[in-house]
Amino acid sequence: MMSMLRLVDSVPSTNGRREEHQAQSLAVGAWLLECLPMGIVIKNDREIEKMREAGRVVRAVLDAVESSCVPGITTGELNRIAARELARGKARSAFLGYRQGGAPPYPAVLCTSVNRVVVHGIPSDRESLREGDIVGVDFACYKDGYCADAARTIAVGIVSAPASALLATTRECLDRAILECVPGHRLGDVGAAVESLAERRGYSVVRDFVGHGIGRAMHEPPSVPNYGPRGRGLRLQAGMVIAIEPMVNAGGPDVRLLADGWTVVTADASLSAHVEHTVAITADGPRVLTAA
Ligand code: MF3
Ligand code: CO
Repeated sequence: MMSMLRLVDSVPSTNGRREEHQAQSLAVGAWLLECLPMGIVIKNDREIEKMREAGRVVRAVLDAVESSCVPGITTGELNRIAARELARGKARSAFLGYRQGGAPPYPAVLCTSVNRVVVHGIPSDRESLREGDIVGVDFACYKDGYCADAARTIAVGIVSAPASALLATTRECLDRAILECVPGHRLGDVGAAVESLAERRGYSVVRDFVGHGIGRAMHEPPSVPNYGPRGRGLRLQAGMVIAIEPMVNAGGPDVRLLADGWTVVTADASLSAHVEHTVAITADGPRVLTAA
């Protein structure tokens, strides 16, 4: 239940593909458990302000990286651009050295996920962006003890119509999910907002990785799936802060982990897009801490 953007084991399926009856009732049990606000740290206004400061650095880093996503640049160079902007913001990378599962510590400050790479692509000086690629860039940092996390998927030059439609829908999924972030709504509403739009457009959402609570640590409870039965799951309350991160595939939802222990690709080699914001639930509605 704890390490987020993680492989999920016991969550329900609403699309009827997880065939069995028994699996369904286990799933209902899992959702009941997820309703309990176990381990969730409520943030006060001062803490949310600190997360906003971290969020400003995240935004500045992603802006710098985005404007450099031109044909010919390497993802290794994008990582150096991110590191430079991070230093300017006097913040610390949340990714460099991060450990998850049995993988080696994450070796960069940025994740760069090109085309069929869903998330956690490792920047490399041997990988150049080409016109028509789409590249997910994901970045998180700590500033004054608090974390913020965000991602964008960027078109490199002119991309195909199907690629640009996938980007537009993935961003719209995040926008819709953010609108659900008001006290009294449930996590299932957030996930259903992503899932319903993506599937209506003929895409699928990745189920093996999810968003997460965030605060003093990059990954806190709760898990924030990009699917879910509306009206179910944890009830949101003011002071909760979550990182919502839809991963939308042009093909099927299944993913594979490459031998480097990090890179996640679509099983059918279809295009995938990923966007993320850190969002505070407040009495006045959602506050996007990684926005402009
Ligand atoms: N935004 C991602 C997450 O929430 C990326 C983390 S992978 C890392 O988990 F290793 F780079 F940290
Ligand atoms: Co995240």
